[in-house]
Amino acid sequence: MAKATKVNHVAIVVSDIEQGLNFWRDQLGLHFDHVEDVPSQKVEVAFLHVGESHVELVKPTTDDSGTAKFLAEKGPGIHHLCIEVDDIDSMLADLKQKGVRLIDETARELPGRKMAFIHPKATGGVLLELYQLTGK
Ligand code: CO
Repeated sequence: MAKATKVNHVAIVVSDIEQGLNFWRDQLGLHFDHVEDVPSQKVEVAFLHVGESHVELVKPTTDDSGTAKFLAEKGPGIHHLCIEVDDIDSMLADLKQKGVRLIDETARELPGRKMAFIHPKATGGVLLELYQLTGK
């Protein structure tokens, strides 16, 4: 059975990346890595390191994504938790078989990783992302 191995990141939705970096990078002193456009999720993401884990500042780039709706309805704040697993396909199959409500029934392939979201209704109100690093 697939195993969860660590917390990969906590994602914080922001309306302005630079404004977010003003606290997380400049005032708190987290190591800033880079900003990445993720068109498949309609967001721009700033990656900051905390030891082996990350804080991601996520800014919606359109008005029609789940992240944009989250920002409009709840304002800035913690958006999701991401846990790394050693085999995402088998983890998703296992969760599905257990009747867990998934947002992505199959993992999406992104550079260096595969990812899927689990519905907050299944987790006690937390949007949960699963990651498997692929190195590709
Ligand atoms: Co994420």
